[in-house]
Amino acid sequence: MTSRPAAASPDLGVSLGPLRLKNPVMAASGTFGYGLELAGLCPPGALGAVITKGLSLEPWKGNPAPRIAEAAGGLLNAIGLENVGLAAFLEKSLGPLKATGATVGVNVLGRTPDDYAILSRTLSDTAADFIELNVSCPNLRHPGGLSLGSDPDALSRITAQSVKAAAGKPVVVKLPPLVTDVADLARRAEEAGATAISLINSLPGLSLDLETRRPSLGNGPGGLSGPPVKPLALRQVMLCSRAVSIPVIGLGGIMGHLDALEFIVAGATAVQVGTGILVDPTLPLSMIRDMSDWLSRRGLQDLGQLRGSLRL
Ligand SMILES: Cc1cc2nc3c(=O)[nH]c(=O)nc-3n(C[C@H](O)[C@H](O)[C@H](O)COP(=O)(O)O)c2cc1C
Repeated sequence: MTSRPAAASPDLGVSLGPLRLKNPVMAASGTFGYGLELAGLCPPGALGAVITKGLSLEPWKGNPAPRIAEAAGGLLNAIGLENVGLAAFLEKSLGPLKATGATVGVNVLGRTPDDYAILSRTLSDTAADFIELNVSCPNLRHPGGLSLGSDPDALSRITAQSVKAAAGKPVVVKLPPLVTDVADLARRAEEAGATAISLINSLPGLSLDLETRRPSLGNGPGGLSGPPVKPLALRQVMLCSRAVSIPVIGLGGIMGHLDALEFIVAGATAVQVGTGILVDPTLPLSMIRDMSDWLSRRGLQDLGQLRGSLRL
């Protein structure tokens, strides 16, 4: 009996503008630390990219505890964007993270459009592979620039200033999930020069204790993530990917390779995993393997054969 040559594994590589990622599975901001904390369980270099916890110009203290509460089927968080500040990250973490072979996206947040431009200018001159602008965090008491992401004119301004300051470094704009016309925001980001958009951030939510009549979280409200947000995320990704020609990175409730493939069918080029990593830090690794097997079994050579194939 003659054995047939093994079929080549599917090519999971995807492009974000000038960047080529080895696969489409990224760690979402806020769920993979600054990239090295979970390296023993999930090697950063094996992922399509690692997105850092959001970084501001100065260190931020974040919200009072408790900062995380379980919600039905998901998670409510109000970390308040505690972070060490961009300078400390660049000094201590970026070098060792890049040494693992990781593609690194640095998530940034500011109080004004100028903050985003300064952060982007600083990053333009570093080994970071791309910048992700967080203009969409739902759980800050004084959100400043973060609430501007819902205002199309402000979003255009923040994006244009940051793209100019980034001087060729790819800029991804992370859009807010709950807006009247998310496709319009996606178009504004594209027109302002964004390399790609990502969505969704967590959704505004509240959980409370009936006896004490107090919120479960120290901040009061929080951001809802995990499986309950997936249907909304899929819809927003579908709408945005039909409105723009830049890549759309989909996230929200992805807990396995089948969820990720649904986002690709809805039009995403790549995906991020957030709450799924908090449940199982090795999840991105099994997702990459299972995604490849899934494509192989159907005789598909790459994700382009699936992308945007949703039949409406
Ligand atoms: C604990 C926690 C911290 C987060 N921190 C950030 C952050 O710093 N910047 C950001 O853009 N998104 C942050 N997010 C939002 C996630 O990146 C993601 O957009 C959201 O959780 C939806 O994806 P998921 O359902 O896979 O978690 C955070 C989410 C969680 C759960």
